[in-house]
Amino acid sequence: MFRRLAWLVPYSLAVLLLSCLLFLKKEAKLVGSPTTCQPFWAPPRPHHSQCQPNHTVANASLSLPSRHHLFLTYRHCRNFSILLEPSGCAKDTFLLLAIKSQPGHVEQRAAIRSTWGRPGGWARGRQLKLVFLLGVAGPVPPAQLLAYESGEFDDILQWDFAEDFFNLTLKELHLQRWVAAACSQAHFMLKGDDDVFVHVPNVLEFLDGWDPAQDLLVGDVIRQALPNRNTKVKYFIPRSMYRARHYPPYAGGGGYVMSRATVRRLQTAMEEAELFPIDDVFVGMCLRKLGVNPTHHAGFKTFGIQQPLNPLDPCLYRGLLLVHRLSPLEMWTMWALVTDEGLKCAAAPMPQL
Ligand SMILES: *[C@@H]1O[C@H](CO)[C@@H](O)[C@H](O)[C@H]1NC(C)=O
Ligand SMILES: *[C@@H]1O[C@H](CO)[C@@H](O)[C@H](O)[C@H]1NC(C)=O
Ligand SMILES: *[C@@H]1O[C@H](CO)[C@@H](O)[C@H](O)[C@H]1NC(C)=O
Ligand SMILES: *[C@@H]1O[C@H](CO)[C@@H](O)[C@H](O)[C@H]1NC(C)=O
Repeated sequence: MFRRLAWLVPYSLAVLLLSCLLFLKKEAKLVGSPTTCQPFWAPPRPHHSQCQPNHTVANASLSLPSRHHLFLTYRHCRNFSILLEPSGCAKDTFLLLAIKSQPGHVEQRAAIRSTWGRPGGWARGRQLKLVFLLGVAGPVPPAQLLAYESGEFDDILQWDFAEDFFNLTLKELHLQRWVAAACSQAHFMLKGDDDVFVHVPNVLEFLDGWDPAQDLLVGDVIRQALPNRNTKVKYFIPRSMYRARHYPPYAGGGGYVMSRATVRRLQTAMEEAELFPIDDVFVGMCLRKLGVNPTHHAGFKTFGIQQPLNPLDPCLYRGLLLVHRLSPLEMWTMWALVTDEGLKCAAAPMPQL
């Protein structure tokens, strides 16, 4: 009897000690970093492509805002793997709709899929392909949601780099590579943000007059733009990163359309170019190198519709190609209004070049 008890004492002590240790460890974790705590369902993050920071550049850019510092330190990193990928384009794809999104923008994607990006419907017999371009964000939404969207809608193209405003140029470069590999036959490509409303029939009607084998980049073209030298602004670019007085002409990144010929030539130019953090200006730089002049079209409203016009007047939309900055609710509303057969509008001429 005593012998058996003597064995029990150290045993219980050991169990007690172990539970204390586990408890303490859990407490420490909770106190340590509540924000980085992964939800229990989150799978381990995908293994990041190995690319080392350039310490020379990092040391030389310490005085810049942290985002610029980060951009320069990793600017040479330009090969990231694909995490999620849609099937390639059908042989007769006419227009590729490549929409810059972010993992968290589930509602924006849902709105586009069910309105102007809906297969069939607005395409007038033309083959369209809708693809959302994503980087990697935090643990929310969980990777399972994106995997679900990808399986259900076959339109998610995600790469293994951090989702960041200054990484949009990486998105541009990687999109070019994907198009070359999986959608090189598409006649035209529309590139835009996930808060644009695209009047697909008007875009198709406009493109009818163009040959995909000729150079074309059409959008809201900005000329003689001045680099922003104010450190507090999102678009700040120090002289050390861009010296010239003006940016080359470029189409506002909210949305523009390119021909197959231009897409192909742009890829070559982008592969050779050093990355610049503002993606639409970067495309402008590559166009200039190629000697392609972007074409302005008043039907691309990348700065939205300005007063005194009513930004939610459906009759206005009937004459436009693309309007920037709509919430998912506005997207649905506009879709319902624009496609309403009973809508009566005074004859509005389509804006010309
Ligand atoms: C870092 O960048 C500098 C300047 O661009 C370059 O000369 C150098 O070769 C780079 N170093 C490494 C290790 O890549
Ligand atoms: C950058 O600065 C750190 C800290 O001052 C120093 O240890 C390192 O050698 C520097 N690296 C280069 C490449 O200049
Ligand atoms: C990226 O890949 C290309 C081609 O595979 C290679 O030439 C280049 O050195 C790579 N760049 C980096 C930074 O790994
Ligand atoms: C861009 O993505 C890379 C890879 O995830 C990351 O190292 C880098 O910091 C990101 N750049 C910015 C400006 O956030």
